[in-house]
Amino acid sequence: MKNQRILSGVRPTGHIHLGNYLGAIRQWVRLSQSLSKQGLNEQLFCIVDQHALTTQSDTNNLSLNTYTIAAAYIACGINPDESAIFIQSHVPAHTELAWYLSCIAPLGWLNRMTQFKDKAGKDTGQACLGLYAYPVLMAADILIYKATQVPVGEDQKQHVELARDLAGLFNRHCDVDYFPLPEPLINKSTARIMSLRDGSKKMSKSDLSDYSRLHLTDENDLLTLKIRKAKTDSDPIPDAIKGLESRLEAQNLLGIYANLTEQTLESVCQQFAGQLFSAFKPILTEVVISTLQPIREKIFQLREEKSYLNQILHKGAETANQLANKNLSEIRTLLGLVDR
Ligand code: AMP
Ligand code: TRP
Repeated sequence: MKNQRILSGVRPTGHIHLGNYLGAIRQWVRLSQSLSKQGLNEQLFCIVDQHALTTQSDTNNLSLNTYTIAAAYIACGINPDESAIFIQSHVPAHTELAWYLSCIAPLGWLNRMTQFKDKAGKDTGQACLGLYAYPVLMAADILIYKATQVPVGEDQKQHVELARDLAGLFNRHCDVDYFPLPEPLINKSTARIMSLRDGSKKMSKSDLSDYSRLHLTDENDLLTLKIRKAKTDSDPIPDAIKGLESRLEAQNLLGIYANLTEQTLESVCQQFAGQLFSAFKPILTEVVISTLQPIREKIFQLREEKSYLNQILHKGAETANQLANKNLSEIRTLLGLVDR
């Protein structure tokens, strides 16, 4: 089997939540464990702080959020001895490659990015250039390591596909087979964990309501309250998935339970058929707490051990810089620049 290089990242904006865990980080942990067993352990997990700057005008919390995300990676099970955990801005090659890719990326491709349209709001003229160029920086994050696999939630599929297209475009532009084409890895059942307040919207750091999401740092009482207040309907749980059609909130809560207990949604429906959500919610709460409590405790413990975290981030950046600078020098040469 060919060596696989995995890269992914989370933005240090707002609170890291259950959607980030199930959609992204839990997948990273599983994938890296299985690759490490095969001796194919090339994994890079980045805290993408430069992406955070595209939407965050408040600089006060950026550093704390960055450490929280680093702590969360480790608390969720990423092994810093086997993976490079690092901060994006500590590896300048990302932004340099982003510029080179910007010089070949057709505007038409960027104009298709749906997340820009969602985030920019109605008045796109007021949105910053960084927000528009964000997918090119994300492509650079991936391509600078020649990553082959990118485990993400569904909302990032289009961006990873753009990275793939830009890799192909670069190869044609320089007439070489330089970048491998990266693939998005999306776990179908956890690809979109939805808001607890509105089952048609994804659980998101940017939702104004804290009650729309379960934070990895929420205390047990707050998790209990958020699940108790989560929107549902008054119908009983059906005995098959088919009965969940158009019951988005019901489907989301049962899906979260299924994912946390490693069962299919179908078998969860059979297990709770006929019960009301008032009876199901305390059972879901127990499962959520048993998953998140140890993660929360570890995050808080690690945040207190800043020098340990700094050591890991330093080592991660060293590994990442080494890989990235080697590739960057080849890329500069391919583009005809005079190398340093
Ligand atoms: P972000 O919070 O946008 O930095 O996302 C970090 C990672 O979590 C990305 O891989 C996202 O696709 C994933 N993610 C974010 N929100 C969700 C969600 N509600 N369901 C599943 N995955 C998600
Ligand atoms: N854009 C991603 C998000 O909002 C975060 C991200 C930045 C990323 N660079 C990446 C994810 C590279 C995977 C690979 O969630």
